[in-house]
Amino acid sequence: MTAHILDGASLARSIRAEVGRRAAELSAHGRQPGLAVLLVGDDPASTVYVRNKVKDCEESGIRSLLERMPASTTESALLSRIRALNADPAIHGILVQLPLPAQIDARKVIETIAPDKDVDGFHVASAGALMTGQRGFLPCTPYGVMKMLEFAGTPLAGAEAVVIGRSNIVGKPQALLLLQADATVTICHSRTRNLAEHTRRADIVVAAVGRARMLTGDMLKPGAVVIDVGMNRDAQGKLCGDVDFDSAAKVAGWITPVPGGVGPMTRAMLLVNTIEAAERA
Ligand code: GUN
Repeated sequence: MTAHILDGASLARSIRAEVGRRAAELSAHGRQPGLAVLLVGDDPASTVYVRNKVKDCEESGIRSLLERMPASTTESALLSRIRALNADPAIHGILVQLPLPAQIDARKVIETIAPDKDVDGFHVASAGALMTGQRGFLPCTPYGVMKMLEFAGTPLAGAEAVVIGRSNIVGKPQALLLLQADATVTICHSRTRNLAEHTRRADIVVAAVGRARMLTGDMLKPGAVVIDVGMNRDAQGKLCGDVDFDSAAKVAGWITPVPGGVGPMTRAMLLVNTIEAAERA
């Protein structure tokens, strides 16, 4: 078997086009959506991520406000800036790029963002809303993964889904979203005893551990849908996911590439959340 490729780049393009239409509609009524992006310090990876987010906004008709603050910024200065943006009616979404310098408590920063502007979906109110099935903002990566599963026409009700990874921003919300869609969900992690025993039973596997090519074809059920959230560098410095693509693609029914899979979808869902925030405002 050779898997179908789940092309995140192409799906993200169509989502951005739809966001563009919704943004134009809001702008026509004098309510252009606005996203504030705060970058503290000059971490090279964060700088690239933030630049891409701003570029996505421009292309979709969302106004972006990029604020760069020095690495020496105090926690109270950052919190004051967030409170001002919370009160700014032209700003519908606030994103503080992580990681933050050591003197700043990231949890405190996230909880200071108004929940109705929490387009990252990281606020405890957003997590609580997801947990209890209420309206909030979904974290962009698991939200994007659900869109990819929908696009692939993957039946979720009653399906065996295995999520590898238990982070607050991917693994845990991913498991809750799959559960909400009536899948039977197993969360595996670094202390799971026999990972392959779980993954071989799975109709859907979402790998979000951050270990290069750890999920191999022999660990999969034939025809499984394999979603690779990983973004790693191998020993040769080559970009790769958590899934060993070559062996997995021989067994899976659908598989996401790295790059060009989940990454573009994460970026697209940030725009969707921002539009949602502006429409709700
Ligand atoms: N750093 C890496 N990914 C993300 C993300 O999705 N949101 C924020 N705020 N910071 C990040």
